[in-house]
Amino acid sequence: MLQIENVSIKFGNIEALKGINLKVQKGEFFGLLGPNGAGKSTLMKIIVGYLKPDNGHVIMGNELVVYDNVNFRRKIGFVPQEISLYLELSAYQNLKIFGGFYNIPGKVLEEKITEVLKLVQLEDRKKDAVKNFSGGMKRRLNIAASILHDPELILCDEPTVGVDPQSRNAIFDMLMKLNREGKTIIYTTHYMEEAERMCPRLAIIDYGQIIAEGTLTELKKMLERQVTLKVLKTSITIEKTNELSQIGKLLELDGHYEIIPNEYFELNSKLFYYLEELGIPADIINLSRASLEDVFLSLTGRSLRD
Ligand SMILES: Nc1ncnc2c1ncn2[C@@H]1O[C@H](COP(=O)(O)OP(=O)(O)O)[C@@H](O)[C@H]1O
Ligand SMILES: [Mg+2]
Repeated sequence: MLQIENVSIKFGNIEALKGINLKVQKGEFFGLLGPNGAGKSTLMKIIVGYLKPDNGHVIMGNELVVYDNVNFRRKIGFVPQEISLYLELSAYQNLKIFGGFYNIPGKVLEEKITEVLKLVQLEDRKKDAVKNFSGGMKRRLNIAASILHDPELILCDEPTVGVDPQSRNAIFDMLMKLNREGKTIIYTTHYMEEAERMCPRLAIIDYGQIIAEGTLTELKKMLERQVTLKVLKTSITIEKTNELSQIGKLLELDGHYEIIPNEYFELNSKLFYYLEELGIPADIINLSRASLEDVFLSLTGRSLRD
């Protein structure tokens, strides 16, 4: 559905994007994960035709995306990183105006407004001025405004920044619902937990380059360790050091052992059974699975966290 080919752009001396290649299939919930300044928003703006790349191009369906072309935007719902709403107006009035941008006929627009207000759970606030809304409510309304015209592709640029946990969950739920209904979604975030939770396939972007791409499983396979087992040093475990080393590569650290299980013991069931057999109590073990944070760290040597 979307093909990004060799897209580059410079702002003065800053190479914001350096030859991006990406393909997103119809119906995907695709993640674009990267730290602040990586180039996520710039790429979103190029996809929707708000920015013109210096090199490369974007193809949607079988059409070349043309810079500043309104017809093309009808197929895309773009939820920008910065809230763009008329604060003095009500939620309903905002949606009327946004609907007008897309030339949606009056009666259809009324139905659409009712439908999207319900989706974003703001029906009961439709007459209230947006300036009195919380960050999360504004964000939800902004999403509503960007899907009034029933776009095939929805671009969401960091929609949960500055949003309370309840609104965040509401946003996740409605995006998943839209995705189940067949919408293709591209979701940018710098929160690896969100990418992990929401996006079955994703790309990691850093300094204007895609440094990894794949399904969650594929990305994690790049890591040397999928699972790390920590076992406290106690009189029991010291006595069983030899048996513990059968599980995999064992490191003796201050106060605990760290074990990278071999393939056989990567399965929880096998591992827990073995530990129980050894008489090692569950409350002195800790098992952690590789995360996208580990993938980012192994690729860049840096942490993704702010
Ligand atoms: N209009 C602009 N003028 C100058 N520099 C910009 C502009 N937009 C983005 N940049 C720079 O391009 C890089 C990528 O920015 P951006 O796409 O906003 O990253 P992200 O969305 O991943 O945080 C940053 O270094 C940013 O400062
Ligand atoms: Mg951004």
